[in-house]
Amino acid sequence: MAGQDIVFEQIRSSGCLSYFLGCKQEKAAVVIDPEEAKIEEYLGLAEFFSTRLVYAIDTHTHADHVSACKMLRENADVKVVMHRTTDAPYVDLKVKDGDVIRCGAIDIRVIHTPGHTEDSACLLVGERLFTGDTLLIGGCGRTDLPGGDPEKQFESLKKLAALGDAIQVYPAHDYRPAASTIGEEKKTNPRMLIGAKEEFVRFMSSRKPPLPRKFQKALEENQSPSHRTQRGFGEGI
Ligand SMILES: [Fe+2]
Repeated sequence: MAGQDIVFEQIRSSGCLSYFLGCKQEKAAVVIDPEEAKIEEYLGLAEFFSTRLVYAIDTHTHADHVSACKMLRENADVKVVMHRTTDAPYVDLKVKDGDVIRCGAIDIRVIHTPGHTEDSACLLVGERLFTGDTLLIGGCGRTDLPGGDPEKQFESLKKLAALGDAIQVYPAHDYRPAASTIGEEKKTNPRMLIGAKEEFVRFMSSRKPPLPRKFQKALEENQSPSHRTQRGFGEGI
């Protein structure tokens, strides 16, 4: 992936993070974990950098916000990518561990990391690792919602720990806004510091945080084939 031809933007919206990567040379772009409320922003970035949004990737089925993948697919001809275990019925490209998605000169390697959900995957782009809710800065995704499994989460964190200390961590939430690396998380993240699987499972199983505010709406929308309300762009999305 050559330096200055690749553009990278982090987009924040009320605790959620999404990411835009564009290849200026080949005029192709990808958005990771897009949120419904930010659609105009993703399309605006694509236009600003003279790229076309080719792929929208959800790192997993989100239970706390409505994904923009479906709307981007229906309205902007964007191909939706998710791990093959997803139940989402609008996915164009179902990927598995080790697959590489090519977007212009950007290579995106898929790492299946079940635990937060069965369909969780992390995406490695050069030194950047998009961790979804598998690894958060100073924490990890909860394992008590549908598809969650603390044993698998433990194994997935081990898989990420082996990627190398210099790898930069870009999670889907900024509960603790900061930049981080795998090395830093290995040293300071209480979840990654738990060495024994049984202890990790006991700890995660003891935690019952409240359900996300939009839990029901988000899951229903993110698992249904098309938008119930057909809204066009520029209508205050
Ligand atoms: Fe999540």
